[in-house]
Amino acid sequence: MPVATFTSLMGPHFLQEPREVHGPWRKVMLAAAGPGPGMASLVPGVREVMGRHVAAWEAAGRVELYDSARRMGLDLSVDVLTGVTQAGLTEGTIDMGWFKDQMGIFLHGLYGLPLPLPGSPLAKGLAAKEAILSRLEPLFRDKHERFAKEWAALGGSASAMAARLTEGPAPPTLEQGYQLGFQAKGMTTLRDTATSVLHSVMAAADTTRFALLHTWVLLAMSPRVQEECFKEQQKVIAEYGDEISYKAVMNMPYLEATFKECLRLFPPSSGGFRLLTRDVSVGGQTLPAGTTVWYHALLLQMLDPVLWDGRTDYDLPPHMDWKGNFEGAFKPERWLSDDTKPRHFYVFGSGAHLCAGMQLTTLEVKMLLAMLVRRFVMQLEVPDMLNKASVFPYTVPAKGTDGLRLVPREQPLPW
Ligand code: HEM
Repeated sequence: MPVATFTSLMGPHFLQEPREVHGPWRKVMLAAAGPGPGMASLVPGVREVMGRHVAAWEAAGRVELYDSARRMGLDLSVDVLTGVTQAGLTEGTIDMGWFKDQMGIFLHGLYGLPLPLPGSPLAKGLAAKEAILSRLEPLFRDKHERFAKEWAALGGSASAMAARLTEGPAPPTLEQGYQLGFQAKGMTTLRDTATSVLHSVMAAADTTRFALLHTWVLLAMSPRVQEECFKEQQKVIAEYGDEISYKAVMNMPYLEATFKECLRLFPPSSGGFRLLTRDVSVGGQTLPAGTTVWYHALLLQMLDPVLWDGRTDYDLPPHMDWKGNFEGAFKPERWLSDDTKPRHFYVFGSGAHLCAGMQLTTLEVKMLLAMLVRRFVMQLEVPDMLNKASVFPYTVPAKGTDGLRLVPREQPLPW
């Protein structure tokens, strides 16, 4: 995404610094979406959204992966994470079909050039943003006023507010996390509060969409790995019962290894910026403190010390070569032993800014794949669709190549 485009659509609501803002904000975000009560409370909503999609695919006997992954990412982020659906439907003030269309236009704008020429993705994205915010503001007025009062009562202290939100009887919401961050940064208007929805959806929709798309395609390319996943589901049912509950999803190590292996080979994010706080020497060059660098997830994963033999005489090391060496490259099993486990996995960033939604996304993709693997064998209609896809600025299959057949299993498992 061009940085200038991103900034004009997302505004100046940057919460990753300073520490006094980032720390309390991150604490609330992790309580809302990280493992534990926050994530567990999201599971019924996630299952409901997925059940709806799977029923439609089952009726059709096939899935068009590209658009289905897009819709799934959008529905999960809007229906489950933002609270808009519940509030909008209850009050009957928002047509959710319209809302999601606008959100799709807004998200698409993020990838456009930073030139709001008439008809450009950015111009359309900006118009969609205005339309979205004008509908959200009345919906969020009460919550906004309540939050502002509480904030004032706590003396405008972000850490006191974070403690209040995370120590209450129910887990906080992502929206409260963003409200806290915005207040702490002095962005205190109703419009800022409504903007929290854009931030939640931006963080969660397309990221989840491409994580799902990439995992889906690679898994569909491997009947062997699908069978291993199916066997694991038999064990999960024996231990935790039929329902794909929070506890059950958290106990699917092979499926989790499959997810990581797919993202190792085919990351849905390309990395991020870091500002060097000290000089760094690399390859005989010294980069001075103050330089902005880009960490490139795919490149770092390629140079994993556990997997890379240090040779440079090939274009692509065998452990990355899913095109020419699929069986050798795609091995979820490598994540299951300390000896073979990759050490470089940068899809979700690292360190103090490690993605707050990492565990939730992992849970979501595992839940969907568990549902599918229990009932179907998945077969790509065009087996080499990935070779035909373009990958910049994100993965787009060639027209008509992204069909997935859902072949019913003779002995399906319940969920
Ligand atoms: C496959 C899905 C996802 C990917 C690939 C992804 C990727 C990332 C990456 C690379 C970062 C680090 C940014 C940096 O270093 O500056 C990050 C941070 C973050 N992500 Fe995600 N993300 C995903 C899903 C989500 C979801 C579902 C949520 C919300 C529930 C979320 C919320 C966040 C937040 C709040 C941060 C900032 C963390 C901080 O600075 O403390 N992400 N994400």
